[in-house]
Amino acid sequence: MKIDALTLFPDMFDAVMSESMMWKAREKGLLDFRVHDIRDYAEDKHRKVDDSPYGGGGGMLLKPDVLVRAIEAVKAEGDALVILLSPQGRVLTHQLADELAQRSRLLLVCGRYEGVDERAIELAIDDEISIGDYVLTGGELAALVLIDAVVRLIPGVLGAEGAQHRDSHADGLLEGPHYTRPPDYRGLGVPAVLTSGHHAEVDRWRRQQALKRTWERRPELLAAAALSEEDRVYLEQLKAESSD
Ligand code: ADE
Repeated sequence: MKIDALTLFPDMFDAVMSESMMWKAREKGLLDFRVHDIRDYAEDKHRKVDDSPYGGGGGMLLKPDVLVRAIEAVKAEGDALVILLSPQGRVLTHQLADELAQRSRLLLVCGRYEGVDERAIELAIDDEISIGDYVLTGGELAALVLIDAVVRLIPGVLGAEGAQHRDSHADGLLEGPHYTRPPDYRGLGVPAVLTSGHHAEVDRWRRQQALKRTWERRPELLAAAALSEEDRVYLEQLKAESSD
């Protein structure tokens, strides 16, 4: 997968993109990541990238000519899905990350200031994505969140093959609790089923814990999750127990 990012703050990407999973994905040749400075596409002598909005009001906007020129220059190297990170976009979910992970090339555009001239969006942006209902100072942190969520789903990036499909949200549920050594920590033990060696029982217990946690913390997710008859029976049992 190839990911390009357009930003006024290219240094913001360095640390995250050179550590851990991101670096391994790049080393393995599974991710080709490049960052480009929007300012390099400003043509006037002051390299001006922003201007005040027509109609007044505070803040500055990214100029459409500079941004569209930057997007077109990156796309000239290969067509890409152009995504603007913006609080007005559709909200990033595991499902959307999965869809993006199927793409061969993404171009992430990071806005700054009060926003972007609408004509640049109309002319050069394919999709707008938000990472949540709050406003960041710019799209860079959002782009990094999106890249992390997408790259870990590219086959071969994570060591334990397939483990990401057990993640919270992968099947519409939160994950249940996990335990490692020691078996007793400050008087707290480990659920006996996990040390029983019965794989089917462990799977059943994990499924029930995922259902329980989702029901307790994010009950609205249950409506969209794929539930078996056994899952439904267990949830009914939980509800009955809680109303006792
Ligand atoms: N830029 C500013 N706020 C944002 C958000 N919530 N998501 C994506 N990009 C943003």
